[in-house]
Amino acid sequence: MLNVLLKGQTAYSSPEAWFYDFFIAKGVVDLMDHVTLPIFTSLSKENRLLDVGCGGGHILVSLAKRGFSSLSGIDLCFDQVKRAKKRLQSIQPHAEMIQGSALYLPFPSNIVDTVISVGSIKHWPNAKQGVDECIRVLKPGGYIIILEIDRGCRLDDAMSFVDRCGFPKFVKPIFLAIFRTWVAGHAFDLDDARQFFIDPLLEDKTIERLDKTPAIVMSGKKIKEIH
Ligand SMILES: C[S@@+](CC[C@H](N)C(=O)[O-])C[C@H]1O[C@@H](n2cnc3c(N)ncnc32)[C@H](O)[C@@H]1O
Repeated sequence: MLNVLLKGQTAYSSPEAWFYDFFIAKGVVDLMDHVTLPIFTSLSKENRLLDVGCGGGHILVSLAKRGFSSLSGIDLCFDQVKRAKKRLQSIQPHAEMIQGSALYLPFPSNIVDTVISVGSIKHWPNAKQGVDECIRVLKPGGYIIILEIDRGCRLDDAMSFVDRCGFPKFVKPIFLAIFRTWVAGHAFDLDDARQFFIDPLLEDKTIERLDKTPAIVMSGKKIKEIH
């Protein structure tokens, strides 16, 4: 069944997953420290949070450390789900880690308080279908928060991001070039995000650059139940 659902979607290969996890994830997790949206900073610790495209679980671990007690994560890549499970085991053993697709979330509708997705949406073959799924599983009044790299990011913001990743000094200029062309080059810019993030089931939408980072954040609150 999973194979049918994943048709046309490409998970990170094992070496890609390792490379991302070892070098880049640290820089991405640090981006979360810049999210000062009131909806994020005032989330109740009892909220059920779902991280879509959770990778190796770094963000879930940082949320667990902030006291969030009901965490789920889903990722297409088996290796990353395994890493996420292992990372969360000691800090939150009941956290639920699932291998699966953002485009077919294996959850009932209207049950999650907050959906977070960081750096994953650019990989989804149908970003709208993925966002529709995230909204479907949200409770009315729940928030979706999507972070993605900004194709129009400033050079110094890209440099500071690369600095925060775990690369040896001599590799940083090479990764900076790769980051700007291959990573940011495939992501959204602010105009794309404004045209894309228009779902009528959301209110209080924000679409903004994350200050001093090469990232954009899109967020919104679900208005009503979906059946
Ligand atoms: C750049 S990584 C971000 C990982 C994690 N959010 C973090 O911040 O460390 C992107 C992740 O999205 C996952 N991904 C890509 N396409 C996906 C899809 N259709 N459904 C679920 N996850 C997907 C990849 O396997 C990868 O782990």
